[in-house]
Amino acid sequence: MADSTGGSECWRVGVLFSETGVTAAIERSQLNATLLAIDEINKAGGVLGRPIEPVIYDPASNPKLFKSLADRLLAQDRVRLLLGCYMSSTRKAVLPVVEAYRGLLFYPTLYEGFEYSPYCIYTGAAPNQNSFQLANFLLQNYGNRFVLVGSNYIYPYESNRVMTDFIAQAKGKVLDEIYVPLEAQAKDFDKAIVKINRLRPDVIFSTVVGSSTALFYEAYWRAGFDSAKMPIASLTTSEAEVAEMNPAAAAGHSTAAPFFEVRATPAARSFVSAYKLRYGSDAPVTAGAEAAYFQVHIAAGALARTGSDDPRGILAALKEAEFDAPQGPVRIDPTNNHTYLWPRIARLDGRGTFEIVWPAGGRVKPDPYCIVPNIEDWSANGRQQMRAG
Ligand code: ACM
Repeated sequence: MADSTGGSECWRVGVLFSETGVTAAIERSQLNATLLAIDEINKAGGVLGRPIEPVIYDPASNPKLFKSLADRLLAQDRVRLLLGCYMSSTRKAVLPVVEAYRGLLFYPTLYEGFEYSPYCIYTGAAPNQNSFQLANFLLQNYGNRFVLVGSNYIYPYESNRVMTDFIAQAKGKVLDEIYVPLEAQAKDFDKAIVKINRLRPDVIFSTVVGSSTALFYEAYWRAGFDSAKMPIASLTTSEAEVAEMNPAAAAGHSTAAPFFEVRATPAARSFVSAYKLRYGSDAPVTAGAEAAYFQVHIAAGALARTGSDDPRGILAALKEAEFDAPQGPVRIDPTNNHTYLWPRIARLDGRGTFEIVWPAGGRVKPDPYCIVPNIEDWSANGRQQMRAG
């Protein structure tokens, strides 16, 4: 089958990450890492002697724009492989377009699970690779009375539903579930702070995303709450959101993710150094960036094996893909198109730096539908016997 480059010199791929809008900071880290990986591959001679050429648009954190730009990439630019999306609302806007054109979307972001598309490769964490572990850690270390605070869109609603199941299994209680606008301003957190003050839970689980995150942590800090006794825990507060807040407001709060910038293995240091050399020493490196980085390498490997960017061939070639990612060796599960990942939990210190407090006990098979919805066994078919720190 002919490839979309029509015999030209390049492999063209579509890239959709927001450089503006509410989630620009985290998505910029994903865009940066995508371009870093493409550059590495091109400097090493490209794929089968041909460079990868990214066709990049800025969908501005707007699902409608994501959809129309995906259409433009597939219909007019005639790319067949897409790299992109952070918010689940944007993935849900893009996927029907990708499916209609029989393209393939590589999605490098943690999400709420309960989805499968043969036109999507999910390289971020499913709930059994972050929520289960975080719930266990919080229940063991802080207590079982939770307040949930999230942005008003699909990921927070669904992630809170999964978290509520785990809390209930531990005979814990969700005292309240509060939603703020996606582009929340400081005043939008006033009501949440009053409720937290009244309820005094053991933990706040935050599914707030993007630039509002800093406003929430700062409001909590100004209220004088003690993060050692009542921390905020999250899956979406990464190095990018922390960089936008006062470091004092970050101290003591926790995040679960497969990768943190502080990870010290040679593969992680090499990725972080290359990223900082290219984008500046202050540029935050996030789990979303790491997934964006390794998925390009995995896609390029599949491209090299099939010699075409036909998505069906790429999908078949991905079955064999194993890549030594900065988080540890990863591979795609051909039964569900999600990725085997290494869950970790880190706590923020007073300088706004994550310290890993719960290292990966092993690589976890993705179970996007939580078929094993048991807080004691989050590993679907048991953990793989692969160990790392
Ligand atoms: C998300 O919306 N998947 C963070």
